[in-house]
Amino acid sequence: MVRKRVFSGVQPTGELHLGNWLGAIRNWVDLQKTHEAFFCVVDLHAITVPHDPNLLAQSSISTAALYMACGIDSKLSSIFLQSHIPAHSELCWLLNCVTPLNWLERMIQFKEKALKQGDNISVGLLDYPVLMAADILLYDSDLVPVGEDQKQHLELARDIAQSRINSRFGKENEPIFKIPKPLIMQEGAKIMSLADGNNKMSKSDPNESSRIGLLDPPDLIAKKIKRAKTDSQFGLEFDNPNRPEASNLLTIYSIISGLGKDKALKECSEMGWGQFKPLLTEATISALEPIQIHYQELIKNPKELNQVLNEGKLKANEIAEQTMNRLRKALGLQLQA
Ligand code: TYM
Repeated sequence: MVRKRVFSGVQPTGELHLGNWLGAIRNWVDLQKTHEAFFCVVDLHAITVPHDPNLLAQSSISTAALYMACGIDSKLSSIFLQSHIPAHSELCWLLNCVTPLNWLERMIQFKEKALKQGDNISVGLLDYPVLMAADILLYDSDLVPVGEDQKQHLELARDIAQSRINSRFGKENEPIFKIPKPLIMQEGAKIMSLADGNNKMSKSDPNESSRIGLLDPPDLIAKKIKRAKTDSQFGLEFDNPNRPEASNLLTIYSIISGLGKDKALKECSEMGWGQFKPLLTEATISALEPIQIHYQELIKNPKELNQVLNEGKLKANEIAEQTMNRLRKALGLQLQA
């Protein structure tokens, strides 16, 4: 039986945090057992905002190592760097030529990031979602496991594939692109900042205490949770719009403790913050400990990591080239002799 294909990626900008893990990578770990899986470190996306070249190369390798430390198995999944497959950039250009500018101008993430950049906004930042569509469409992906914040980008990828490529250049029963579906976790799809329960936990938040990095040492985790914003009410609860911090921290606890929503609520509904925070701290430290130990082993061995990335690249490149040939032909671009 042909297995369905999953594709996803994380930007190597700064250290991965709890949101990336709980909202996305945790889902990948299960999916790789039943699907053909491609997990990409999207380094070309990372340069859409000003970046430090010395840090990027290191961060890309470190992100790949974190994928593996979180449980992505290179025997089950192809792990690779986006910039190692030239077809991502080429497909992005071809899709650029059919994507209306106003589709990009209304993207929420573009508007948010553009606000932070002032008058230094690159064309690449506007084009970010088209590159993301290229990533996904290149691999005939069936499913794209992401956090909730990526939903709009996934819709754009579907729209470009369907209304700008398949219906214009494909044949009736021979679509050029497969139309991918987003896969968003029921729990943990939007982990919020520790400093403000109304804002998403984000790598780009200048306040480092707003997020827990997957490699944060225990004392730093304890410090960040101790500082995390609370309210003056007693007892933890979910989904009370007036208590976003309570809902967020209880969500994190329910997932990383493995208890699930009902049991976590039962345990914590009569607890004050002073009792809950140490519990959350302990659960977070023990959930991250195996990831951190595994990461330290992997990062000591760059040769092996590079081998994994190379194998991933070869597999990814083969599929990407097949898709590109199909599209080049459909668009009237001459195939190489
Ligand atoms: P990035 O690096 O911002 O986020 C990586 C993944 O983590 C999820 N995520 C969250 N989930 C829950 N709570 C949060 N606070 C949180 N913050 C981030 C994101 O939804 C994402 O799934 N544009 C993508 C990278 C990308 C991509 C792709 C993903 C580029 N090409 C193709 C899928 C398919 C992004 O936001 O990365």
